[in-house]
Amino acid sequence: MLKNILKSVREYKVASFKAPAFVAIEVIFEVLMPFLMAWLIDKGIRKNDMDYITKLGLILVLASIFSLIAGTLAGRAAADASAGFAKNLRFDIFKKIQSFSFKNLDDFSTAGLVTRLTTDITNIQAAYQLIIRTAVRSPLMLVFSLIMAMRINSEVAMIFFIMIPLLAVALLVIIFKVHPIFEKVFNEYDNLNRVVQENVSGIRVVKSFAREEEENKKFDKMSMLIFKLFKKAEKIIILNGPVVQFSVFTAIIFISFVGAKQIVSENMLTGQLMSLITYAWQILNSLVMFSFVLVNIIISRTSMERISEVLNTKPDLRNIEKPVEELENGEIIFDKVYFSYIKDKEKSALKDINLNIKSGETVGIIGGTGSGKSSLVQLIPRLYDVTDGSIKIAGKDVRDYDLKILRDSVAMVLQKNILFSGTIKENLRWGNKDATDDEIIHACKLAQAHEFIMSLPDKYDTVLDQGGTNLSGGQRQRVCIARALLKSPKILILDDSTSAVDTKTDAAIRRAFKEEIPNVTKIIIAQRINSIEDSDKIIIIDKGQIVAVGSPEELMKTSKIYQEVYNSQMKGGLFDEQ
Ligand SMILES: Nc1ncnc2c1ncn2[C@@H]1O[C@H](COP(=O)(O)OP(=O)(O)OP(=O)(O)O)[C@@H](O)[C@H]1O
Ligand SMILES: [Mg+2]
Repeated sequence: MLKNILKSVREYKVASFKAPAFVAIEVIFEVLMPFLMAWLIDKGIRKNDMDYITKLGLILVLASIFSLIAGTLAGRAAADASAGFAKNLRFDIFKKIQSFSFKNLDDFSTAGLVTRLTTDITNIQAAYQLIIRTAVRSPLMLVFSLIMAMRINSEVAMIFFIMIPLLAVALLVIIFKVHPIFEKVFNEYDNLNRVVQENVSGIRVVKSFAREEEENKKFDKMSMLIFKLFKKAEKIIILNGPVVQFSVFTAIIFISFVGAKQIVSENMLTGQLMSLITYAWQILNSLVMFSFVLVNIIISRTSMERISEVLNTKPDLRNIEKPVEELENGEIIFDKVYFSYIKDKEKSALKDINLNIKSGETVGIIGGTGSGKSSLVQLIPRLYDVTDGSIKIAGKDVRDYDLKILRDSVAMVLQKNILFSGTIKENLRWGNKDATDDEIIHACKLAQAHEFIMSLPDKYDTVLDQGGTNLSGGQRQRVCIARALLKSPKILILDDSTSAVDTKTDAAIRRAFKEEIPNVTKIIIAQRINSIEDSDKIIIIDKGQIVAVGSPEELMKTSKIYQEVYNSQMKGGLFDEQ
């Protein structure tokens, strides 16, 4: 797990080594100072030796300057390394998510991925900085201070061998009590993020269902839970203070008591006593710092696990060794295709699909909601892979094609399509980044989008809000169709993409397709039968199976379902035409 994450350190390796090196220098000078102070007092001041005082004073000043410089450099290197590491890690996760197939994405919640890219990375960044700096500093400080204290007076320094284990045990108990609470807090953060994300992106739905109150309550409950957990954790953490104070002052009292006796019996000097007290502070403080680092590392462990879960996920759609680089035409053959979203074969979303679609044909697909229409067409550009059977385009299995070539040749307007923030033109260029203005206008004319775009204040440069919310549903759908057309695909799939477009415009789009892109295979999923009635072939799907295939005229004669749908919709259709 650790290895996988640490790979992202990359160019910040040097800084990551510099930080502890400078910390070591800082600690050496810092530990040296109380020792030098003892000399200054005992050898200089006590004997009124001005020369000695000046010399040592100078050395002390130099030592503190060196320690300061080393400390600053260590801080800088640690900040640099941790921020750089976090940047790389964030990039790596983002890149990984981009490589995910739809199936991979089904396994992670959006909120979970957002938490990983934000809170979890911040946790790891903080922990990393602590590890390369404080986690090096405190043990070094402890060991060096202990050595110096022993050198000054081993008898008095014995107190540390009693106090250190006592304090360490107390701190460990606190950590182990607090850790499970923090773990819960982070799980709750995930839930909180999910609620926030859902509500912010779906705020319009919340409002239209007048669910503000319920959502507020839900959110409040979650915040309250986090508050309570934090309070519980803080109650335990706060014990830290008294425990540490108690140990430090006990040590100081002991040192003063034993030290004073030794000074009287002339076994120790005043300056030495002073430095011993300073070492007591340094030693016990470093223990506290170390426990703090430990807590942070433990907290970040959960974050590390969650991040490595993403990094370890293998994109389940990949190119084969020598992929086919050219897709010749738009002929599609489904051969005994089965598909299920989950492993359970009984619950297949598609069963035994056999289909022959000739290049340039227009195929309409109808069926009830949840019947498997979207599932069927998603298999063509390999958004998902078939569970069994095969799909061939221009005589070759879709899995043999280079993924990029395949997806460039099969343009699909997804049912749940979105536009990104940016101008209309920028969004259209997703289809083809090198498209000229003429090509863009041509595609928009085909998709019947040109007219309304020209009526917008900034025309093609109109800035869209996130998700294109400042366009109407039907306008958005037409921009999405134009975006797909710009790919100059061999196969064009529209998944319920004209549902919000009026019937007249819908008919105009189909007419334009027929006249302007006759050679492109067109697959149109629709709820309205008049969206597909001029297709060469209509497929009716029910419960994941094809129940009828044929030309509209054939189906009108042979398929009872088609007749029923036709008759029921045409009544509503009359209303549309008026
Ligand atoms: N990502 C997914 N993970 C698991 N199951 C899914 C997923 N997407 C769809 N399903 C399930 O697969 C079945 C077919 O869904 P599909 O989206 O293909 O229906 P559809 O015919 O396109 O419906 P609609 O007309 O409502 O768009 C449904 O039972 C649905 O619950
Ligand atoms: Mg669908």
